Amino acid sequence: ASLRAVGPVVATKFPIVGRVWVTTTYEAAARVLKDSALFTLRREGGVLVGLPWWMPKFIATFANNMLTMDEPDHTRLRSIVDEAFRRRAVLDMEPHIRAIADRLADELFAAGSRADLVQRYARMLPLAVICELLGLPPADRPKFIAWANSIANLTSALGFLRLISGMMRMRRYLKARLQVAREQGGEGLIAELVRVEKEGGRITPDEMISMVFLLLGAGSETTTHLISGSVFELLKDPVRRDWLAADWSRAGLAVEEFLRFVSPVQFSKPRYVRQDVDLEGVKLKKGDRVMAMIVAANLDKEANECPEQLDLERRPNRHLSFGTGIHFCLGHQLARIEGICALQALFTRWPALKLAVEPSQIHWRRRPGIRMIAELPVVA
Ligand code: HEM
Repeated sequence: ASLRAVGPVVATKFPIVGRVWVTTTYEAAARVLKDSALFTLRREGGVLVGLPWWMPKFIATFANNMLTMDEPDHTRLRSIVDEAFRRRAVLDMEPHIRAIADRLADELFAAGSRADLVQRYARMLPLAVICELLGLPPADRPKFIAWANSIANLTSALGFLRLISGMMRMRRYLKARLQVAREQGGEGLIAELVRVEKEGGRITPDEMISMVFLLLGAGSETTTHLISGSVFELLKDPVRRDWLAADWSRAGLAVEEFLRFVSPVQFSKPRYVRQDVDLEGVKLKKGDRVMAMIVAANLDKEANECPEQLDLERRPNRHLSFGTGIHFCLGHQLARIEGICALQALFTRWPALKLAVEPSQIHWRRRPGIRMIAELPVVA
């Protein structure tokens, strides 16, 4: 709100990315995200925006995916996996997602009468689902959890070194998994990528690694924040929790509001300005960089009435939590269903679930672009 008082587009300085404009209104954010010819992910010559020169070269392997590409490469890559995330395919997965959520809810207090809901539940459900979709063995999940934690704990130079070494290991691991799929086939999206590779021409080996990396990251951490943020709001206010638990057909609308209110992804990727432009009255120059601030769009009163209030029956609900335009979140259907299943399974199994500490004692991770619950201690 304080940035919005300055203007709809404001110049700021970010670690690593450097000087960048950020949007503060819904309209400005939507315009940046929708106009993918004017606001691109790459500069002329295909250089990625926001990757500094000093970043180790191998990091570029991870940045060869649809979310870092403009057309026509973006569609070339997205169309390979699009089918698996369509509404029909996701609805077919729903009973299975529900079963995973039920099992995790049953096991929540297996190690004691108090549990961290982030590590034992909110992180486990999306990770289990995306690993199964990709065809990655359950035994390897602890590796991804360690990797997710190394990103979340990126607060020091040592943390950065740990992240780099973790990414090197991740790259070796993904290369090996792809090789296994090439030799032995198998189920899931990794096997599908290999099939497409064998047909020739549509995807390179680096793009395959980057695709799996993107799906693992985008498909798990984001939904973790949605689930933990929603559960936190419901535990803070048992009246809301009981209202929702009395009729689970309300869960779809409620999750839509949690998406807006929690804003699990707070910023878009930085975009490169292709030519001088007037963005909501602010002059941006060719070569500038701009980021859509999703959380500010979601809290803009021009888009929604009383946006600072959590209203689980809000309709219409205008939010940009999944972005918009050509990069609109591929996993939006999946994330919504995971959110609904997670809440229903948890509060059906533990109707009297409580926070183990005062809400003000909850530990948040706050860095530019990131606001997430680090630990959510609960008791049955
Ligand atoms: C793109 C948010 C869950 C896969 C995006 C973008 C946002 C977003 C904001 C666009 C970023 C930009 O334009 O810079 C979220 C949120 C989620 C979620 C808030 C959960 C609550 C998922 C899941 C998957 C997924 C479950 C499944 C694999 C992707 C992919 C893209 C994407 C592949 C890139 C799409 C493209 O470039 O065409 N997501 N996401 N996301 N998301 Fe999600």
